[in-house]
Amino acid sequence: MSILITNIKKLVQAGNDLPEKRAGKEMSVLPSIDNAYLYIKGEKIAGFGLMKELDVLRPGLKAKGFHEIDASGKMVFPCWCDSHTHLVYPASREIEYVDKIKGLTYEEIAKRGGGILNSAQKMAEMSEDELFEASLNRLKEIACYGTGAVEIKSGYGLTTEAELKMLRVIQRLKEASPLTIRSTFLGAHAIPPEYRGRQEEYVDLVINEMIPQVAAEELADYIDVFCDRGFFTVEDTERILMAGMKYGLRPKIHANELDYSGGIQAGVKYNALSVDHLEYTGNKEIKALLGSETMPVILPGAAFFLNMPFAPARKMIDAGLPVAMASDFNPGSSPSGNMQLILSMACISYRLLPEEAVNALTLNGAYAMGVQDDLGSISVGKTANVFITKEIPTLEYFPYYYGANKVETVILKGGLL
Ligand code: NIG
Ligand code: FE
Repeated sequence: MSILITNIKKLVQAGNDLPEKRAGKEMSVLPSIDNAYLYIKGEKIAGFGLMKELDVLRPGLKAKGFHEIDASGKMVFPCWCDSHTHLVYPASREIEYVDKIKGLTYEEIAKRGGGILNSAQKMAEMSEDELFEASLNRLKEIACYGTGAVEIKSGYGLTTEAELKMLRVIQRLKEASPLTIRSTFLGAHAIPPEYRGRQEEYVDLVINEMIPQVAAEELADYIDVFCDRGFFTVEDTERILMAGMKYGLRPKIHANELDYSGGIQAGVKYNALSVDHLEYTGNKEIKALLGSETMPVILPGAAFFLNMPFAPARKMIDAGLPVAMASDFNPGSSPSGNMQLILSMACISYRLLPEEAVNALTLNGAYAMGVQDDLGSISVGKTANVFITKEIPTLEYFPYYYGANKVETVILKGGLL
């Protein structure tokens, strides 16, 4: 099918030959076309430009046949690329949420067997089919808010069998869903209770048993470790990353959420595609990231939900770094995959300009999950993952009018949702 979208008030993040990511001052650059058209042919973006240029092209297009959408008063964006989620999970954890309201910290809850370990227990009991259905529904939900690509992690299994189950579910989602999905093996998400005091042995299990099996079944695109205080050390992390890299798994790691853990530096050292969370980022960490190929990814939902200090996004951008933002959709620290809220938080809590925030969720988000050649902008030849907004007055209105769904129509791989 071909789709022609006409009278677009603003076509956002549109251009050919765009950079693969934007950093520093460039993050406020957002190429857009007012009063535009967008032509989609099959799964791909085939053309775009000013409405007045379309008059010349129209007779040729008409002969081929297409579905026309009049977008008067509405804007068109490339779909969000959510580069960090745990959306394959067995059950919600609202009991812990109440514990948090009563004053317990994330670490205290984890020590009592709550948190990730609570999810791991439920994961063991849940069938692969149930897990698949629940996750597919969550994918449908996030697509309605404009997400077109999503990275999903394992890490609620913590046994070889349950980790493989999670990754097989992600594999099935890749086939069943129109969203573009990348999978990450996160066996080192928490230390299972039976390994308490024997952390090294659990790391051995991840290295000697889990990674080879994950690789043999080709179930993961990336490898992750929760490198932070009370979880995995820099030494554990380096051992696991080296083992994963032998099988071609590039790192994308959880770092510096709870402390200056050394995780950022470890990520850069092993050429991680991204380091994520980053609440504890100081001058040393910024210096390590500058000039690297590692994308710093900030997760506003988790910092908001856990009442943690916000990562110094403004300082990072002002120092010349790129920044991506993602939802961290998971049942414990960020039970929402709504990227429109992330966009608003980027502006309100992290002081990003609306243009910088859009870059953080599109172009830089695509880079942080390795899909920048195909997604993250409206460029000829890229996959047609775009959304049409409701009628909105300005670009700034999008993050400003927070909480409401401003997306009206979603097109994924060239098809209307
Ligand atoms: O990204 N920080 C570690 N892992 C997840 C939380 C997972 C959970 O609490 O279930 C995160 O926030
Ligand atoms: Fe996470």
